[in-house]
Amino acid sequence: NAGEGKPANHWGSEEYLSGEAKDNTAENLLHNEEGGPAQQKSYVGLQRKLGLVSGISLIVGTMIGSGIFASPRYVMENSGSVGLTLIVWSLCGVLAIFGALCYSELGTMIPLSGGEYVYLYEAFGPLVAFLYSWTSVIVLKPSQVAIICLAFGAYVIEPIFPGCGDRGDLQPVVKLLAALAIGIITFVNIASVKWASRMQVVFTVCKMVAIVMLIITGLVRLGQGFTASFDNSFHKTTSSLGLVGFAFYNGLWAYDGWNNLNYVTEELKNPYRDLPLSILIGIPLVTVCYVLVNIAYLTVLTPVEIMNSSAVAVTLADRLYGVMAWVIPIFVASSTFGAANGSAFSSGRLVFAAAREGHLPKFLAMIHTKRHTPLPAMLFTSIIAWIMLLPDSSSFETLINYFSFAAWVFYGCTVAALLWLRYKKPDMKRPYRVPLPIPILVFLAAIYLIVAPFYDAPLESFFCLLFILAGIPFYLVFVYFKIVPQSFFKCITRWTYKLQTICDVAFPESEAD
Ligand code: ARG
Repeated sequence: NAGEGKPANHWGSEEYLSGEAKDNTAENLLHNEEGGPAQQKSYVGLQRKLGLVSGISLIVGTMIGSGIFASPRYVMENSGSVGLTLIVWSLCGVLAIFGALCYSELGTMIPLSGGEYVYLYEAFGPLVAFLYSWTSVIVLKPSQVAIICLAFGAYVIEPIFPGCGDRGDLQPVVKLLAALAIGIITFVNIASVKWASRMQVVFTVCKMVAIVMLIITGLVRLGQGFTASFDNSFHKTTSSLGLVGFAFYNGLWAYDGWNNLNYVTEELKNPYRDLPLSILIGIPLVTVCYVLVNIAYLTVLTPVEIMNSSAVAVTLADRLYGVMAWVIPIFVASSTFGAANGSAFSSGRLVFAAAREGHLPKFLAMIHTKRHTPLPAMLFTSIIAWIMLLPDSSSFETLINYFSFAAWVFYGCTVAALLWLRYKKPDMKRPYRVPLPIPILVFLAAIYLIVAPFYDAPLESFFCLLFILAGIPFYLVFVYFKIVPQSFFKCITRWTYKLQTICDVAFPESEAD
């Protein structure tokens, strides 16, 4: 009964990012009958295979992508000074760790794959859970793909037109490249899960090499005494709380993905130990890398140069690596491409699951008859991502503002769910209990992150809020009351058949009735 919107089990994990890919990921979904939280046994193919190392690499693999290469200039611009920049980068790491520890409590207490949806459902019921899946399908996932691909575009174009990335007339080229990347990723993900996951392993290696190169560069330069950028660290620090909020948005973008392990709790061998442990090892590791990479940028470039470079790692490489400078743009472009691939993969699955729940047209829950990939769902996400590239005003920075606002509304809600469940259901088993001050801190941080940017960009935040709330009438009309005239459904059915033949897709067998 889709009308009750029972939580689905598998909401878009990115497990194959860790190189632990199972080719049956799509299959898992296909065999997963409409599964409420208690129906784990119907879950064919999901095995407890992930250990501690997989857990850590899953976290690290999802988190590192475009942000560390593309966000630094915006963190610097908004915070105004080197000192605050480094503080923001470090605090983002702390917030990610705290947030992830809260998620650990929820994940071990309600040990189902599915992340936020399941927890929100448990604490606040179907409407809030629906609003979450609505927002992630329409806003969060497509904007992730679009943002990462814009960073990809910037890094591809920088070596060709050095120092021109900011020129307005090149913006359409960056967007065109981003659109092309979305197209390729969509194609690969529709063509074969195996390809998509093999591609991922190569890209993961590339990004690690890029990060390690930058860190070593930074350490060597520090040793050589290039520390001028750090003199007078707090000069020109902004006094606007709104701007600090935007600095956090951009920093937190680079850390996004900290919650990813919660999507696969059912697949962890020993979740009670490994979930918190992977977080406590993985996220500090990423935080240290990010801070060191930022220090590396600062040992080679001045803060002003960082603020003016649309591909800071390329600018650094041009300055320092001589004939080898070409490796950086290639590795970074691969890293972003891999991140976009991961996001697109999981969002295809998310749309698929939402459609299967009856939260989106059933057509989107169909599978390609030969390729066994969720073709309509993949296309759906990519089309929205393409549309997001269209407006003149859309750019890496503006899309991050939309994304972060919506994301932190729901991260905040999820932590509120934790607090609410502690109060409402104190006796529920909690194998991992996060110390109470942590969820309170994260909740307050989420409120700050939602409210502060309202001052400086009220319109963007307002639109985003409107988008989230627009889910309510949809929920009432289509899911709760189902007060849509029969003729409408007939029309949908007709279109479903048409599209089905055009795209060669069908309902997975278990649901074909
Ligand atoms: N932190 C990643 C980056 O810097 C973005 C991750 C997007 N979120 C996700 N769950 N895939 O590009």
